Amino acid sequence: MIYAREQLSEIIEKYIAALPFPAEPKELFAPISYSLEGGGKRIRPLLVLMGANVFSDNIERALPCAGAIEVFHNFTLLHDDIMDNAAMRRGKPSVQKKWNHNTAILSGDAMVIYSYTLLQQTSYEILPKVLHEFNKLALEVCEGQQYDMDFESRNDVTIEEYMNMIRLKTSVLLAGAAKIGAIAGGANDADCDILYRFGIELGQAFQLQDDLLDAYGMEETLGKTVGGDIMEAKKTFLTINALNEAGGATRRALIATLQDQHLPLQQKIGRVKTIYNSLDIPEITRTVISEHLTRATEALDTLTVEPARTEALRELVQMIRNRDK
Ligand code: IPE
Ligand code: IPE
Ligand code: MG
Ligand code: MG
Ligand code: MG
Repeated sequence: MIYAREQLSEIIEKYIAALPFPAEPKELFAPISYSLEGGGKRIRPLLVLMGANVFSDNIERALPCAGAIEVFHNFTLLHDDIMDNAAMRRGKPSVQKKWNHNTAILSGDAMVIYSYTLLQQTSYEILPKVLHEFNKLALEVCEGQQYDMDFESRNDVTIEEYMNMIRLKTSVLLAGAAKIGAIAGGANDADCDILYRFGIELGQAFQLQDDLLDAYGMEETLGKTVGGDIMEAKKTFLTINALNEAGGATRRALIATLQDQHLPLQQKIGRVKTIYNSLDIPEITRTVISEHLTRATEALDTLTVEPARTEALRELVQMIRNRDK
């Protein structure tokens, strides 16, 4: 059968809720449950199951992969919140804040290992292919995270460098999720590659939106500290475009504001956003997001399956287009 998004969401929630974690040591496993129960959007496991369902009625085969991808994603968030000095995640204190850095590091490590325990349950005919994809994306996420940190102290990051950085830190996980789903669904290599390309375009749009929401979202809805990227002098799509578009004086003011350690936070965020607004940065960003989402949909158009089989993925694209969290 072809599953609707709501049905797949329910399957994922049940699967994750039933994951058997030991009770002790509490300090190791409690943060894992805290993270996995914490109301994430579950976009990546949805991509796995939807990717499988494009080619097969049997989504069961893809379920351990979906679980592995979501556990891995949550691991990246535990470590990312240390690296980004982020106090809030999904409307609650981040693990590094509620516990401490060491806990977020070690619980995160345990989550990576656990994601491989789940992968191990994948049927052996497809396991080598799945592992190849998973290992590739996992290393790429680390590469992307390193560039993300490297860029904090640079003011000459190009859009090309930025797009490559977000492809690595974010998009390969969405793309790998969709492709692993396709593998589990028995797709041929060409179709697996189409789902990968779809996921990359979706991922690029997703991270650009994440940057936009970080500055312009509503904290209540977003569940993260608005202005967190400005606080950390991240080179986001907004910052890089502003640095490119601004004339000499504005450019210098933007750099000075981002680097100012003494300026009260709300004032800093206000000044940076005033510069963004004066340069039309939100609109520029929305246009590029839209282009990537269109390309994602166009990738789906090249599949030779009946249209109903890609409906859920198209709906997911629309959801992402309209997201405010
Ligand atoms: C956050 O991902 C990390 C990014 C790649 C921007 P999500 O926004 O998918 O996080 P949750 O799982 O829904 O909270
Ligand atoms: C997310 O980048 C990338 C990974 C977690 C690998 P961000 O640092 O922008 O994600 P958020 O905004 O903290 O969710
Ligand atoms: Mg980060
Ligand atoms: Mg972060
Ligand atoms: Mg972000």
